[in-house]
Amino acid sequence: MKHVDRHDPATRTWVNDAIRAVEADANRSCDTHLHVFPLPPSWGVDLYLKDESVHPTGSLKHRLARSLFLYGLSNGWIGPSTTIIEASSGSTAVSEAYFARLLGLPFIAVIPATTSPEKREIIEFYGGKCHLVDDPGKIYEESARLAQETGGHYMDQFTYAERATDWRGNNNIAESIYEQMAMERFPVPAWIVVGAGTGGTSATIGRYIRYRRHSTRLCVADPEGSSFYPSWVTGTAHPGKPSRIEGIGRPRVEPSFQPMVIDRMTSVPDATSIAAMRWVNEVTHHQVGASTGTSVAAAMEIIREMRGHGIRGSVVTLICDSSSRYKGTYEQDSWLEKNGIDITPDLADFRALFRR
Ligand SMILES: Cc1ncc(COP(=O)(O)O)c(C=O)c1O
Repeated sequence: MKHVDRHDPATRTWVNDAIRAVEADANRSCDTHLHVFPLPPSWGVDLYLKDESVHPTGSLKHRLARSLFLYGLSNGWIGPSTTIIEASSGSTAVSEAYFARLLGLPFIAVIPATTSPEKREIIEFYGGKCHLVDDPGKIYEESARLAQETGGHYMDQFTYAERATDWRGNNNIAESIYEQMAMERFPVPAWIVVGAGTGGTSATIGRYIRYRRHSTRLCVADPEGSSFYPSWVTGTAHPGKPSRIEGIGRPRVEPSFQPMVIDRMTSVPDATSIAAMRWVNEVTHHQVGASTGTSVAAAMEIIREMRGHGIRGSVVTLICDSSSRYKGTYEQDSWLEKNGIDITPDLADFRALFRR
């Protein structure tokens, strides 16, 4: 007989403690709110916003970062001296920098040079380093290269998001939505609308809907130029452009994106996304980011259709992050002008839907 032992008690003790620390972070937090969007009750359609901006690191990506760390720790990929590297449009890197600091690990965010300065500041606040890349399409290979160079671990959210999250439940975002809807007048949403960056959120929600045998349909709202929409529509890969709506829309279809669980995709012009963001901020006083605007715009189109067909029911979408991360961009008229974006007609359309 021959055998080789690789058990390292010190590393195992460290991993045990690291998993406890990540779980303890969740244990200190409560669930995120499900806000009622103030539509006229006579419409017979209710819209809800699940506020993922209230996580400790300010976005939906707190859930993903937690899942990716637990996945990496449980797989033996992350140990006491592993440098963590991630390709991100910013928000995932913010959340991962927070967890890396919690575990005392070095963190490098590989992000497009256009990422908002607000996000870069938070990554550095949590002790992470920002490695800026001019071509956003190069963040993957640059991350893999840095991982090799440092002997670190490339988290690769775009590949692992869909499998790192427990889609059957375990308090994932889908289970939480259905529990929070339980006492509403239309407890099973007719539609859930989300954006896609990795595609992990839509995969989790889409799988959960099927697993629980709900009648809910899933719509993914995609910003202009992204490859998800044309690729989903045609069934063949269509390369896209880097998205101007930070966090969603990708130049390529990411491995985590699960097309078969999606019932509808809506392509939303950037002007419409930003107009919807401004409108949500006026109507609800929740200061949301532009990706939330993309989803709300697609949700409002669904609501118009439901009303047109006399269908009553509920629609749920997400507040992914707060506009405080975009003070210098979507919040600024001068930035819109510089980028040739005119939100005036869309904003007028949204405002005309009802009077506050
Ligand atoms: C509104 C909204 N929905 C969903 C997502 C989903 O991200 P992912 O596909 O990476 O899970 C985002 C990401 O920023 C978002 O802003």
